[in-house]
Amino acid sequence: MGDTEGAGFLTLSDVEAAGAAHLSPEVWAYVQGGAGEERSVAANRDAFRRRTLRPRALVDVGTIDPTTTLLGERVRVPFFVAPMAYHGLIRPEAEDATARAAAAAGVLNVVSTLSTRSLEDIARAAPSCPRWFQLYLQPDFAVSRRLVERAAASGYRAIVLTVDVPVLATRDRQARGGVAIDEPAPIGNGTDVEAPLREAAADGDRFTLRAEASETWDVVDRVAAASRLPVVVKGVLSADDARRAIDHGARAVVVSNHGGRQLDGAPAALDVLAEVVAGIGSDAEVYVDGGVRRGSDIVLALALGARAVGLGRPVLWALAAGGEAGVARLLFLLRQELVSTMAIAGRRTLAEIDATALGPNRW
Ligand code: FNR
Ligand code: LAC
Repeated sequence: MGDTEGAGFLTLSDVEAAGAAHLSPEVWAYVQGGAGEERSVAANRDAFRRRTLRPRALVDVGTIDPTTTLLGERVRVPFFVAPMAYHGLIRPEAEDATARAAAAAGVLNVVSTLSTRSLEDIARAAPSCPRWFQLYLQPDFAVSRRLVERAAASGYRAIVLTVDVPVLATRDRQARGGVAIDEPAPIGNGTDVEAPLREAAADGDRFTLRAEASETWDVVDRVAAASRLPVVVKGVLSADDARRAIDHGARAVVVSNHGGRQLDGAPAALDVLAEVVAGIGSDAEVYVDGGVRRGSDIVLALALGARAVGLGRPVLWALAAGGEAGVARLLFLLRQELVSTMAIAGRRTLAEIDATALGPNRW
């Protein structure tokens, strides 16, 4: 994870602006936008800003160990690349660039059903990259099952089932921005995979992802039975739903409001994290995403009980700014800042980051 030429930015504060400078207003509106008025997008950042970290002084922090395991998979850091559709809208190298950067950094890469490249191509581009496959349920379960089987055959080690898109939300910024992606965005995983943009082109009704609309919890059992891979349920915001996910076979959950892109008015994922962790105890691993931008954010999320955090938009900003080198630099800077934050906070290992690392809230 060395330094990186040509990343397009120097610090974590600069990644967003660097990304914006490289994208058309339409694609930028797609990446940045959230549901409705974007209240939940704002809530995700506020939740971090409101919290404080309380350091422990004069701890021997000569050695810091930020490594962990995620469902048994060894990773170098407790953050992962969240699944995001259509990296090809950002850069022609698309998910291949992201996967290569993640591989070099020892970071888990979660690949979306709606990737521009096929899941097989992404695996070939970075064979050593720890990878999980995110499943959007398809109207025909046989298509879902086939995706799971393909993922298993290509070295993906878990299935991340996203459950917070029964239909796609109304997204004002995208609607205004027109999301002038005139052609349906190509889906690498095949023409039988339903895609919001493709459907939009077909019926003129923008952004309707109908695939999950009629599904209920028993589909988690069916996904679990479709392969030997563990299932992670992504997109829960209550202890009740997390418990249901586990009862139906999930081994982990991602507490998430989909980066504020689905239910406008949903709480910040960080604000319900502790409740979910308390509700399910040690029955499953708990991850969180939404608004993670800095090393201190990662420490806050771990202090509230997460085992790891997902990174969404920053990865696309970095990809826009510098392609593979941009993503590599983002991952490098985040790891560096995580390690220095742990040292200054007096926590040598991730296990030492618990509720005692939290200070009083600012408001
Ligand atoms: C997403 N997200 C997402 N989630 C998912 O399960 N499948 C997907 O295909 C996508 N696609 C997608 C596209 C774009 C452009 C964005 C910004 C997000 C949601 C993603 O996995 C994650 O939950 C949020 O992005 C996390 O919030 P931050 O880090 O973007 O604030
Ligand atoms: C999105 C969907 C595709 O948030 O996950 O854009």
